[in-house]
Amino acid sequence: MKHLIDPTDLSRKETDEIIALGEEIIAHRAEYSERLKGRKLATLFYEPSTRTRLSFTSAMMELGGNVLGFSDARNSSASKGETVQDTIRVVANFADIIAMRHPIEGTALAASEVSPVPIINAGDGSHSHPTQTLTDLLTIHRERGSIDGITIGFCGDLKFGRTVHSLIKALSQYKDIHVVLIAPNELRLPGYIKRDVCDRLGIDYRECTTLEEAIPSLDILYMTRVQRERFLDEEEYERLKDSFVLNAAKMSLAKPDMKVLHPLPRVNEIATDVDDDPRAAYFRQVENGKFVRMALICKLLEWKQDPAHDMPQRPVTSVPEETRCHNRKCICNTERIPYRFYRSHNGDIRCCYCDSKIPVSE
Ligand code: NCD
Repeated sequence: MKHLIDPTDLSRKETDEIIALGEEIIAHRAEYSERLKGRKLATLFYEPSTRTRLSFTSAMMELGGNVLGFSDARNSSASKGETVQDTIRVVANFADIIAMRHPIEGTALAASEVSPVPIINAGDGSHSHPTQTLTDLLTIHRERGSIDGITIGFCGDLKFGRTVHSLIKALSQYKDIHVVLIAPNELRLPGYIKRDVCDRLGIDYRECTTLEEAIPSLDILYMTRVQRERFLDEEEYERLKDSFVLNAAKMSLAKPDMKVLHPLPRVNEIATDVDDDPRAAYFRQVENGKFVRMALICKLLEWKQDPAHDMPQRPVTSVPEETRCHNRKCICNTERIPYRFYRSHNGDIRCCYCDSKIPVSE
């Protein structure tokens, strides 16, 4: 069965099919109004969300389906100590498909291991956010007509920003992609994404420290918020929070057809004087998120019975028995999930749930 845990769970062909269906739904909205009549989506949100949860709800409603779920872990049995996997086993009796968000990394993967219905990862800690990626891809496609061949700048919190991690992974399936990474030293892109995704899959990237230097070459500027809730040290957040601010003066250095994306919410990183610039695509992006989620829900339910769309298997590697994942925010350290590891392409041993590198003595 196909779940969507990480953008690489979708082949380029499957991603293209979802984007094409998103475009088709936009063009013929009325025809989809009863497409999922009688079907149910459960939204399990253990972490705050406005956009993503409402976007899923609105998507299912526009398809004629129903939605149930919770938007606060305090309203779920998690507050009584129920494990995520048990909650999934229960909720799968009430819904045809589940979208979930959780602050702990790897939760959606652990959920998919026991779920008889498709699981959609709506964000797991700072790890992954594949439906935002589909939103971003549909937006780039609609704004530019194609995704291949773009130069895209990622600006802000590239360390904790899960939307950035997921979009870079997805872009590795496209041709001739150039990435410019614009971040303060402390918030640079994690090394595993640079090595395993950019280096291995041939994404050409460069790093720079000012927006002014990067902006003239970009087709897409992807702005991000500094992720306050992921910092262990509040002082460090205060020091870094306003590192990069896009404003009308900086926009004057950009190409006339450059587009600005942002997964939202924005804090200070885009001044409001950019909002009326036709190149500001971030509010259009929100609407695309609903259409692409409509397409995704339809496709996952369609693919459910088709073995051709099963999940890609990542081989588990054997490690010394005492090997542990060191990430305190990984599901295998917060719930009783057996540790599992894989060997990445450059030979590192990594946790299957959170992808963090494991120091193993061999
Ligand atoms: C993003 C997220 O939740 O990671 N927002 C979203 O999904 N629209 C980005 C963010 O919170 O900064």
